Amino acid sequence: MKRRQFLSLTTAALAAPTLFVRRANAAEPGAPLPVPEVMDVGPGSGNNLEAIRSTREFVAGVRSDTLGYSQDYLGPLLRFRRGQTANIDVTNRIDAPITAHWHGMHVPGHLDGGPQLAFGPGETWSPELPIDHPAATLFYHSHVHGRTADQVYRGLAGLIVIDDPDIDDPLPRDYGVNDFPLIVQDRSFDGAGRMTYDIGMMDLMQGFHGTEILVNGAIRPKLTVPAGLVRLRLVNGSNARMYNFSFTDGRTFHQVASDGGLLTAPISMTGLRLAAAERAEIVVDFSDRAAVRLVSTRGGSGMMGGGMMGNSGMMGGNGGMMGGGAEGSPLEILSFEIADARNPGPARLPEALPAPVVDLGEPVRRRDFTLNMHAGNMMGSMLNNLIGRDGQIMGINDESYDMGRIDLQVPHGETELWRINADMAMHPFHVHGTSFQVVTQNGRSVDPVRIGWKDVVHVEGPTEILLRFDKRAAADAPFMYHCHILEHEDAGMMGQFTVL
Ligand code: C2O
Ligand code: CU
Ligand code: CU
Repeated sequence: MKRRQFLSLTTAALAAPTLFVRRANAAEPGAPLPVPEVMDVGPGSGNNLEAIRSTREFVAGVRSDTLGYSQDYLGPLLRFRRGQTANIDVTNRIDAPITAHWHGMHVPGHLDGGPQLAFGPGETWSPELPIDHPAATLFYHSHVHGRTADQVYRGLAGLIVIDDPDIDDPLPRDYGVNDFPLIVQDRSFDGAGRMTYDIGMMDLMQGFHGTEILVNGAIRPKLTVPAGLVRLRLVNGSNARMYNFSFTDGRTFHQVASDGGLLTAPISMTGLRLAAAERAEIVVDFSDRAAVRLVSTRGGSGMMGGGMMGNSGMMGGNGGMMGGGAEGSPLEILSFEIADARNPGPARLPEALPAPVVDLGEPVRRRDFTLNMHAGNMMGSMLNNLIGRDGQIMGINDESYDMGRIDLQVPHGETELWRINADMAMHPFHVHGTSFQVVTQNGRSVDPVRIGWKDVVHVEGPTEILLRFDKRAAADAPFMYHCHILEHEDAGMMGQFTVL
């Protein structure tokens, strides 16, 4: 009897989004890709970001409540120059604390925008950032403990591009012509077409998975590109979803950069996996002028092998409701149209790239991290924990995040080997303050040439990373390490450390 009621509820829940998807198909997808406005951030005043509350019509005629940095949803693309100082004033015009964290950038803890640097309504935070990072595609987002998932979901995130005047970038680099940033996010909408973020226990466990894919804030848009080589800077800005990108005609493309900057050489591939917060720059050849689409496989949610909380069954927020597609059909991300415009970029890819070279040497110490889906108790007591401990049910090394506790003291300038594992499920593990090299993943050694410099690594088995901190972080503004499934991070799967 109980089971029957449950099933009928589930059927109703499935029916509603399907209705909406038909409307959305008629109204939105296929609109031109929004290309973010660029803010060149150098020394001096005048670079302002204002966190605001706003609304946006993701679906024509329907306003959704949103947050943004100086715009209705997301923020401008911040362009920094290596070797320069960048001054930026971030003002909080919403009714809750926020931060601006420069994800992936090598800056000291007090400039990093982590949870300890939250600032309240009406306040302005004015960091002076010494830009000391190789050319790369990064992003920024709010990072207030317990509110990160919600604030990022509603729009407090944006793209960062770092240029290095000392390298000769041999790749397409005419912004908005043959070089495009793509922040890919999944979002859910109610029957009326309003963006929603209602998370239940299931979403908490596997991380939120939305029913629509947005690129730069538009639902499944279209991008017009010139024939020839085009660079796409992919940022997985989703709360939890992992993508397996490919093109509908199965074409080969080349990855040229990962999280921390350029690879040593373009790597050819037909599919690219990006977990939450990972980035990759790819170069795609559109010389054949064929209209293709960028798609992703479904699935790939946080739960191991789709096991306990299977991501494809009727309980999954991940299932086959998107675009009216059946289970197993790809997720539509972005469609391409080829224009007659001249492509000012190079006609072919170079064989080698000016990748950042740093020799980390041998580690002087090792540390172990276990990501816990339940810090302390098992499933049965989770609901109690949710209420009793303010949602802090997850952890690392059996402790939920505590802003008042320093978990590690890492000496400045010493190479360490970190071994990361998980007691359950898969997690994108992120470290602030540096880029790292992945040594082994899933127990197997990896080819560093294919992986490059990372600040997020997808942990699906024993994983080892090699890292060294050249920036300092004191106890009042420590660096974080955490799962970048934002629901897990907010639930306590985070720790913090000083570098002195
Ligand atoms: Cu993208 Cu700790 O952050
Ligand atoms: Cu970060
Ligand atoms: Cu996680």
